Parts: sequence; C-alpha cells; structure tokens
Amino acid sequence: MNNKYALITGASGGIGKAIAYELAKRGRNLLLVARKENELSTIAKDISTKYSVDAEFIAIDLTSENAVQKIYDWTLQNNWQINMLVNNAGYGLWGNFEDLPFADQQNMLQLNVEIPVALAYKFIPHLRQQTPSYILNIASTAAYQAIPTLSLYAASKAFVLVFTRSLRLELKKKNIIVSCCSPGPVATGFIERAGMQAIAKAAEKFEMQPEEVAKIAIDGLLKGKAEIIPGFTNKFSAKSASILPKRFIEYISSSLYKK
Ligand SMILES: NC(=O)c1ccc[n+]([C@@H]2O[C@H](COP(=O)([O-])OP(=O)(O)OC[C@H]3O[C@@H](n4cnc5c(N)ncnc54)[C@H](OP(=O)(O)O)[C@@H]3O)[C@@H](O)[C@H]2O)c1
Repeated sequence: MNNKYALITGASGGIGKAIAYELAKRGRNLLLVARKENELSTIAKDISTKYSVDAEFIAIDLTSENAVQKIYDWTLQNNWQINMLVNNAGYGLWGNFEDLPFADQQNMLQLNVEIPVALAYKFIPHLRQQTPSYILNIASTAAYQAIPTLSLYAASKAFVLVFTRSLRLELKKKNIIVSCCSPGPVATGFIERAGMQAIAKAAEKFEMQPEEVAKIAIDGLLKGKAEIIPGFTNKFSAKSASILPKRFIEYISSSLYKK
C-alpha cells in the first residue's frame, strides 16, 4: 500500500464522512479528523473493509490548543505523506450577532477560518513534494452574500472563498490544485448544531444529500475547478448574487433566515 494520504477534517459525519467514502472508492488512503472517536473508528474500519485503502483517524477538537501541530506530528511520526487536504470541519450559529454568546462565535470563527488557514500553511510544504496535490476548502453558498442572523457564518465562508481563490493562483505553478466547494442546504448535522431547527422544514425542500455533494466536490477538485457549487438552484442563486443589486439579494436572504 502506498503512503500517500488525503487528510479530511470533520470526517465523523455529514459532508466530511461522505467525502471520505467518495475518496476511498477512488482508491485514496485516508486520515480522518474530528472529535467523536467512536464514529471515526467505525467509519475507518468500514472503509478499510470495503475498499482496498488504509483509513486512519485522530479524535481531536480542532479548536483545542496546538491541535494543528498535534495532527501534523501524528502524520510525521507515521511517515504518511499528504497529497490532499480537505478543510471541511465547520459549523454555523443562527441568531443576531449581539444576542449570540461571543465565546461561541469566536469558536466558530476559529474552526471555520483559522484552522483551515493553519492546516494549509502547515501542509503546503508537504503538498509541494507530492504533486499533483490538492486542497479542497468547504465554504457555503452563504459566502456569496450578506445574511442577517448568520452574519459571522456568512463572513467566515466569504473568507474561505476569497482565501481559496487567492491561494489557488499562488499555488497554480507549483502543481497544487486548490478548489472551493460551496454547498447550499445539505441533510447533515448542520441545522441542529446551528440551532436552526425552527426553519429545518423549509430548508428540507432545498436539501441535497451529503453523498451527492461529496461526489460533485471531488469530481470538481480533480478537474481543477476554482469554485464548485453543487446543484442548479445553488449555482443559480450564487450567480444571481453577483449580478443583482445587493439590496435585493439581502432582502431575500433576510426573509429566508428570519429568526
Ligand atoms: N449542511 C449544510 O447545509 C451545509 C451547507 C453549506 C456548507 N456546509 C459546510 O460543510 C461543512 C461540513 O458540515 P456538515 O454539514 O457536514 O455538518 P455536520 O454534519 O455537523 O459535520 C461537521 C463535522 O465537523 C466536525 N467538527 C465540528 N466541530 C469540530 C471541532 N471543534 N473539531 C473537530 N471536528 C469538528 C464534526 O465532527 P465531531 O462532532 O465528531 O467533532 C463533523 O464531522 C462545514 O464547513 C459547513 O459549514 C454545510
């Protein structure tokens, strides 16, 4: 078995888990990262049994002290070479900025913004030695416009989108492909963690399945696409946001996510 691995954050459920299975189907060894040890262990065993790949995991809170360094040391100690980094772990918080606990919002920013940046910085020297290599950052259609009641979440994903596009250009000549996938609503644990149960029914109508999103994301990444927006409606709404007057788009987003 080769010692080249894809490192996926937030692989214990939702989109990250689906990406793990999608990559395993395509013969890639996996390093799975999330907090829930039992889930990670079950997924890693199932993947190793079903596909001829190695699947390893580390149970860690990415927002805990030195988490990125610990993950880095873990890969080094085992001599696993990373040729794909999937920055997927993230969550939203629903509510007015001034009403949500500040510490919770800081934690969200840390996970959505600081951790993908820190992981990219840490692993780019390795990705450079394994070319062609890949970075896939998971943003959201929330990245394309302001959303009251999801103010910081939308801003964090706009950061991910712009950062990805810039990094992509910097790394192009080095043969490291960098893509941003921005899903719309997906049937995962996201709604519950964001505290959005009150609008879950409305969101269901637009939801995609994580497996569909994962397939589109990986197809797009391997084709070297800059931005991957799964689903026609999501693509249409993201495009509209760049064409239509901001006031109009913000009126729609305000009514969709009203608390
Ligand atoms: N679902 C949607 O509608 C949607 C739409 C657009 C974008 N997204 C984005 O897609 C990404 C994946 O979300 P999802 O929908 O799959 O949500 P999810 O089902 O809640 O999965 C989130 C994953 O992140 C992990 N995670 C959360 N906090 C963590 C921490 N502190 N340290 C390590 N791992 C952590 C979770 O595992 P543990 O709990 O085991 O740590 C889980 O594996 C996120 O970046 C989200 O913003 C989701």
